[in-house]
Amino acid sequence: MSKRLTAILIGAGNRGADTFGEYALENPESIKIIAVAEPQKARRAKIVRKHVIPEENIFESWEPLLDKEKFADVALIMTQDQMHYEPAIKAMNQGYDVLLEKPMATTLKECKSLADVSESTCKILHICHGLRYAPFFSIIKSIIESGKIGEVVNISLRENVSPFHYAHSYVRGHWHNREKSSPMILAKSCHDMDILFWLVGQKVQRLSSFGSQKYFGKDKIPEGAPDYCIQGCPIEKTCLYNASRIYLDIIPLLQIGAKSSKGLEKFIVKSVLKFPKLTNLPLFRKVKNYSEWPVSTISSDMSRDGKIKALNETNYGRCVYKMDEHSVVDHQVVNIEFENQTTATFTLHGFSNEEGRTLRVDGTRGTLIGEFLASGDNIVLFDHLTDKKTIVRKTGSLIGHGGGDVGIMETFLKSVKLKTNHDVMTNARASLESHLMAFAADIARLQKRVVEIEELR
Ligand SMILES: NC(=O)c1ccc[n+]([C@@H]2O[C@H](COP(=O)([O-])OP(=O)(O)OC[C@H]3O[C@@H](n4cnc5c(N)ncnc54)[C@H](O)[C@@H]3O)[C@@H](O)[C@H]2O)c1
Repeated sequence: MSKRLTAILIGAGNRGADTFGEYALENPESIKIIAVAEPQKARRAKIVRKHVIPEENIFESWEPLLDKEKFADVALIMTQDQMHYEPAIKAMNQGYDVLLEKPMATTLKECKSLADVSESTCKILHICHGLRYAPFFSIIKSIIESGKIGEVVNISLRENVSPFHYAHSYVRGHWHNREKSSPMILAKSCHDMDILFWLVGQKVQRLSSFGSQKYFGKDKIPEGAPDYCIQGCPIEKTCLYNASRIYLDIIPLLQIGAKSSKGLEKFIVKSVLKFPKLTNLPLFRKVKNYSEWPVSTISSDMSRDGKIKALNETNYGRCVYKMDEHSVVDHQVVNIEFENQTTATFTLHGFSNEEGRTLRVDGTRGTLIGEFLASGDNIVLFDHLTDKKTIVRKTGSLIGHGGGDVGIMETFLKSVKLKTNHDVMTNARASLESHLMAFAADIARLQKRVVEIEELR
């Protein structure tokens, strides 16, 4: 069990380098990245330097890396949504066990094929559904399994995305166009579908869904607005989506910090919100120099000039109402009936005061109410018989998807070492279920009808 595994990394971006690459550096006894495929020069150079990857194992794309005979234990495939299927299939055929980012693929046919190939090649294929590993959701799962709330009758789950995050990822960013990436219900909410499937422990029978791109569109373009916010927009002071507000002054992040941080950090954040000029003083300069998500996405040059250049030249600086290619929903609801008649409702939207998921599980003996937020999470249990209220969990702010990212990697490495898909949290066949739900919800929404999941199996 103690053997260190070697990994090839395909895609050294936010997830590949910053999340799982950092995990490897922090846990050198568990995993070592020995090869990389990454087309962007700066990203490639950074990962090579940090992980000391030898010259012969550095590639600009995944094809030549996977053309080589297998030379590591596992493949970490961390490319964008539309570039999951081909490298994952090739990696399994080459003999690698694979950790693949979600969504597993962008068509149902490809998702099914991934599960099939994982089984036919006997290779482990784990999809990064991190929520299963977050303490918040594992506690809820264990309470349900303990029988404390009796039989689960209904679950209500909401994914509340804040305006800046929605604009960053789904208006300006990678996931703004369903043809180039995937529908938002798949890209963002396959996690939620997975959680519902996991908590209920049953397959879905049928579902319906409604939703649209209601807010963002040409009819909302402010009078006189330039194409890029930074070119001087008449409503820049009051626009939530002003690119300078998000990427230079990082106001939405400061507002989260003001709610969730402690001590000196809270003092810094609150002071800067009140007196922005403070960022010129050394104690407060780290606000000005902030270079993590979402700012890290806009450029590889995190100097102020580099950020400004990105806001003048990339989608991240564009007026959100002028993003012609934006074609994903900004709100969607899904009504679900499981095979055991349990029902669930799911709501996704991009207009939340606070970022995070909220959930309510009603059972025959009790109710669980939980909040899984950027500022922290909490779970309360109510007993129907005694009317007793128990606070099960209350935390401060959490990083790394509420603790889920570490769990994903640890479970993946454990299954590879044990060479088993059993006794672990998930496998490709289980992930296929959540993807089926997401595709069904997309069809139901577009065709305005109830979809029987059997149609898609
Ligand atoms: N599990 C989660 O909670 C979670 C969170 C965020 C993103 N994601 C998913 O993770 C994936 C990656 O997202 P990201 O934010 O890291 O994206 P990213 O764009 O930062 O990283 C993708 C990297 O792949 C590289 N790439 C492009 N073509 C390549 C090729 N031919 N060969 C090798 N690499 C190539 C890109 O240059 C880029 O550096 C996406 O599918 C996304 O949906 C999952």
